[in-house]
Amino acid sequence: MTIRVLHVASELYPLLKTGGLADVTAALPAALIEQGADARLLLPGFASIAQGLADLHPVARLERTFGAPQASLELGRVPGSDLPVYMIRADAFYSRPGNPYLDAEHVPYGDNAQRFALLGWAAAQLVQHADPAWAPQIVQAHDWHAGLVPAYLRAAARERGLPHGRSLARTVFTVHNLAYQGIFPAQQFANLGLPSDFFDMHGVEFYGQLSFLKAGLYYADKITTVSPTYAREIQTVAQGGGLEALLRGRSHDLVGILNGVDYTVWNPATDGSIAMHYSAGHMSGKLRCKTALQARLKLAQKHDAPVFGVVSRLTEQKGLDLLLGALPEIVSRGGQLVVLGTGDASLEQGFTRAARQHPDAVAVELGFDETLAHAIVAGSDVIAVPSRFEPCGLTQLYALAYGALPLVHRVGGLADTVVDASLENLADGLATGFVFERFEPDALTAAIRRAFALYARSHDWRDTRTHAMQQDFGWAASAQRYLALYRELL
Ligand code: ADP
Ligand code: GLC
Repeated sequence: MTIRVLHVASELYPLLKTGGLADVTAALPAALIEQGADARLLLPGFASIAQGLADLHPVARLERTFGAPQASLELGRVPGSDLPVYMIRADAFYSRPGNPYLDAEHVPYGDNAQRFALLGWAAAQLVQHADPAWAPQIVQAHDWHAGLVPAYLRAAARERGLPHGRSLARTVFTVHNLAYQGIFPAQQFANLGLPSDFFDMHGVEFYGQLSFLKAGLYYADKITTVSPTYAREIQTVAQGGGLEALLRGRSHDLVGILNGVDYTVWNPATDGSIAMHYSAGHMSGKLRCKTALQARLKLAQKHDAPVFGVVSRLTEQKGLDLLLGALPEIVSRGGQLVVLGTGDASLEQGFTRAARQHPDAVAVELGFDETLAHAIVAGSDVIAVPSRFEPCGLTQLYALAYGALPLVHRVGGLADTVVDASLENLADGLATGFVFERFEPDALTAAIRRAFALYARSHDWRDTRTHAMQQDFGWAASAQRYLALYRELL
């Protein structure tokens, strides 16, 4: 039986991306199709999405608009792929330049509750045959933006008088990051058109406010998150963001499925954004990529200086304040640091200051630059991901593929994907990077020293790098796990 599944999200690589979510929504439905599923995607019609999709044509008018003058569903596809994508056309809501969630002052738009309620409600309409030609049996909603999907479906089932437990479609809610909860003042609940008893501790209410994330966690049939370790961590007070009790209560419905890598986008043997191609068997191109990176960023042209790279959102989550503190350790030992990122002003300023102090050894590019991201991963010897918490993390997976050994804090998906270069792991040929346990300066410093020590043993370095590059984090395995989950639900 072919399973019809609709993915609901707010980002899609390469059309609109603020982080790893976009990489996932581009690759997972495609991987599901490859495994025989009938997968489609639903997105808000943000300007770059509306401009980027091919063959867009109208499917249905949406009766409820949540305050937008009009709203409709269109169907198109991602250029160069066969993935069908539904798009909500509501220009008053979505056709705004820049970030999909924040205005030019980096403040969340005042009508975000309505903008993303429309997304959830439109998904429920697709289940109820808004498109006469296709309706999903499974809806997988990603992050708080799509958190109301299961709530609207539950409400619709009740309206139709379906017995408790029966539903119009089965739902999966996927947590990519529990730190973003989609919280709004309680008064906004009246704008959602949900039954009034849904505003309850057993529902969408969260400490007196309205939470889209909680709606997803509460009403979905299954909850997934993007690594097995994060699935455990979010059930603890320390990392549950106030939702740990709910998550513990649903632990039988909660599963961690690791993200994958789209090796058609991230492969040093074919990557069009890097100075020279290379692969585990032919590594000379990597040195060319390193030299090119040093030249581009005006660093000292030193073959033997280990280059530490960072490609990241500059937020509290990513732990880069700790790395900034450890910078003298890298520089004094003759290493170099390259940072590409954008975000918190204090981190932007901190790294910029460091680059000014050590122009030969530290380079910083503020902004979002997909091509430079590839060049950094290819040209670096080490990619640092010292996150405080990390649901999955994709950067360390890309780093493995490019033979840039990941240096990571042992949390979330980082713990599940990188094996520390301890003596015993080296001896057993298992090591793929550097892992530190405690989020403390001395623990990070020790990992950096371990990286320098291994770098000095070039034979061991090369072996570890080869092993890292041979890791297979392709999407096929993850897609199979999602399919098994869908089958269980059906
Ligand atoms: P998160 O989703 O929390 O930001 P991930 O590691 O899952 O973390 O995914 C980050 C994605 O965003 C990767 O594809 C990474 O290459 C990309 N990325 C992050 N910052 C930048 C940037 N400044 N420029 C280009 N790409 C970036
Ligand atoms: C979130 C997480 C990141 C994860 C990504 C894709 O942005 O912060 O760890 O890899 O989503 O699932």
